[in-house]
Amino acid sequence: FLRPQQAQPLAGCKLLITAGPTHEPIDPVRYIANRSSGKQGFAIAAAAAAAGAEVTLISGPVELHDPAGVHVIRVESAREMLDAVNAALPADVAVFAAAVADWRVESEGGQKIKKGAGAPPPLLLTENPDILASIAKREQNRPPLVIGFAAETEHLLDNAKSKLARKGCDWIVANDVSPATGVMGGDRNTIHLLTRAADEISVESWPVMSKDQVATALIARISKAVRTTES
Ligand code: CTP
Ligand code: CA
Repeated sequence: FLRPQQAQPLAGCKLLITAGPTHEPIDPVRYIANRSSGKQGFAIAAAAAAAGAEVTLISGPVELHDPAGVHVIRVESAREMLDAVNAALPADVAVFAAAVADWRVESEGGQKIKKGAGAPPPLLLTENPDILASIAKREQNRPPLVIGFAAETEHLLDNAKSKLARKGCDWIVANDVSPATGVMGGDRNTIHLLTRAADEISVESWPVMSKDQVATALIARISKAVRTTES
């Protein structure tokens, strides 16, 4: 028998989650993308809803169904994702699981680029807005708990620690995405959770888990943190 607080530890809590890749248009028929499947972010949204939270999931293009009880907003590009995130605030907790494209093409072609007799067209890139950093550094409506991911192929903990500081978030969920791990597109994930309290960073290393188990464990940690702040 579960007391209501145990069954629905996030009842009354508003969670905002980003997931999936973004697509950055080159011309009307082509885009830049990455290998993110969206599975981890969707699993976190489902686990949060199961814990009683009110969940808004803002996702780039993925082939996944809406999780039960989750409000899903589908976007294409990083700039659309940023606008949707800003519109979804305020939130109690924000989890940025999306693999946002770091760059977009500087000027999108209005027509399909055609092959010519000359050299292939150069793609001039410009940096996308950093959605996590812009929310973590907001003066107004900053969610009390802002959680980022760090996808790394080398120097995992060092890179994750500097990301935590640089982006101004509270926690970083660091995962090794080097090809041998099969994390990108796969069903398993190896997580190191970095949490920051004042200037002290703590690291918890979790065993290899399915992405669903990672979601459940993360939601349990979030529930604990939310309860501690409330009491
Ligand atoms: N992120 C974001 N907006 C971006 C880039 C990243 O919100 N334009 C978020 C991701 O959702 C993730 C975190 O920032 O929560 C870290 O993303 P990552 O790609 O690992 O870090 P970057 O800062 O982009 O650095 P790099 O890709 O060079 O490692
Ligand atoms: Ca990046």
